Amino acid sequence: MTALEAWKQRIIACRRQRSQTDSEQWDRTASWYGSWVQENDYVDKVFPYLQEALPADARVLEIGSGTGAFTLPLACAAGEVLAIEPSRTMREHLDDNLQAAGLSNVNLLSERIEESLPYIQSRGPFQLVFASFSLYNIPDIDLVIGNLLPLTQHLMILLGTGARSIWSQDLYRQFSGEERVIPPQLDLLYPVLLEMGLFADVRIINASQNYPYDNEKALIDWWMERLKLPSSRRRELQDALRPLILKRDGQVGIFQKRKMALVDIDREKQNRKDLHNTNP
Ligand SMILES: C[S@@+](CC[C@H](N)C(=O)[O-])C[C@H]1O[C@@H](n2cnc3c(N)ncnc32)[C@H](O)[C@@H]1O
Repeated sequence: MTALEAWKQRIIACRRQRSQTDSEQWDRTASWYGSWVQENDYVDKVFPYLQEALPADARVLEIGSGTGAFTLPLACAAGEVLAIEPSRTMREHLDDNLQAAGLSNVNLLSERIEESLPYIQSRGPFQLVFASFSLYNIPDIDLVIGNLLPLTQHLMILLGTGARSIWSQDLYRQFSGEERVIPPQLDLLYPVLLEMGLFADVRIINASQNYPYDNEKALIDWWMERLKLPSSRRRELQDALRPLILKRDGQVGIFQKRKMALVDIDREKQNRKDLHNTNP
């Protein structure tokens, strides 16, 4: 099996296990997601690396902006941002956040990246194309990367490493009776890049994965809903979650760490490598 086939198969397996489409899921959880982002530190840890790739007045393309975790700092640091976000509710939150911050240099596009490529080509070039946890549902990832690379100096992709979060896997196994299929991450992306003949730098970043709640009841309610459990299993869920629940600065929650990967495909390094290959 090729690396690209392995990537596509994982997406098919993921879609088979989920009862909602990707857009339905993000439309439903956008509000929760916006607050979740505030409780975690991955933007603070990753943004300095993006800044290194941003000259003054840079033009940036951001794929899958969500509620704007990176869009707002990007808009502050760059000249112009083209932000692609297919979920309507995510876009509404992003719009509100941009307005509240008084930022007017972001143009929003409502299609998925796969469908926006011809338009994006007409809007290039960019100094940075950035995707944070947003390429996991694109079967033809080689086409998307292949089309974006000629348009940008840096293509940076933030995603999970592929290492499983043991506690959440255990929860899903116990309560849904099956292994949760996780979307494709670095362990499947990097082989695709190698197959495409691309050179990429990878940084591993240790970030928080915090789930804070108002109180323990709200925490249990949230996981009951997420795991779609009948009330008869509430006690069992409570027992399973109890060892994970902590109180930090008066806040109840599950506070964990997770590793993520920042992939940087630098076109200049790519060109040097291509030159080296043709003139060894
Ligand atoms: C996990 S959220 C990440 C949001 C934001 N980038 C962040 O790091 O907080 C994933 C986002 O990617 C968007 N997305 C999913 N598939 C996409 C696609 N094919 N093209 C563009 N955006 C996509 C979703 O609508 C969602 O808002």
